[in-house]
Amino acid sequence: MSARERDLKYATTKLREMSRATDACRECPLGALATQSVFGEGPVHARLMVVGEQPGDKEDLEGRPFIGPAGRMFDRAVAELGWSRDRLYLTNAVKHFKYELRGKRRIHKTPAQREADACLHWLESEIALVRPVALVALGGVAARSLLGRRVAVMSERGRWHEDEAGRRVLVTLHPSALLRGDPAQRDEAWQQWLEDLALASAIFKKAAPRTKHSLMERA
Ligand code: URA
Repeated sequence: MSARERDLKYATTKLREMSRATDACRECPLGALATQSVFGEGPVHARLMVVGEQPGDKEDLEGRPFIGPAGRMFDRAVAELGWSRDRLYLTNAVKHFKYELRGKRRIHKTPAQREADACLHWLESEIALVRPVALVALGGVAARSLLGRRVAVMSERGRWHEDEAGRRVLVTLHPSALLRGDPAQRDEAWQQWLEDLALASAIFKKAAPRTKHSLMERA
């Protein structure tokens, strides 16, 4: 086995272990309320890692990131950009769904800073194992976790930032901001979002996936 293959095997095993460990994580109160943790998925050494805020209702029930309404929005963007989802590593800053009950409905609640902070070491470990060339932060919670400071998404979006470790982070809106936005401005907001994301196209397209190993389940 080559050094590269060993490295991939190691990263795959560690990510699977971490996925199980996040499920048992009770470092903040969210784990006890959620159905399960939602860990990252995608090629183990993907060139681009996309980081969202936290799983939503559907993600919580099915255990996979970005499969609900925000995920469908993201998938549309991926298709328009000529990217393919199966070459991206998708994850979240917070691994458990935070919600409040309204009747029987579970309504998304933004995670508190202390909850995002408690989850940060999982995200950091994921980044260290996947070693993406660059990261995309979808929304303020992801941007803050990645850049270690408060980020004013509307003024800092659409450009590359560098974190303390020298990693490149593209900041843009979370897809749910587009879903919630003023319908009269939806087309323009959509185009702007695509333009932001397109800044990562060169990184995405540069080469074939680095690996066939993919993290899709906890197995
Ligand atoms: N929103 C996110 O930020 N992540 C998901 O996985 C789903 C919705």
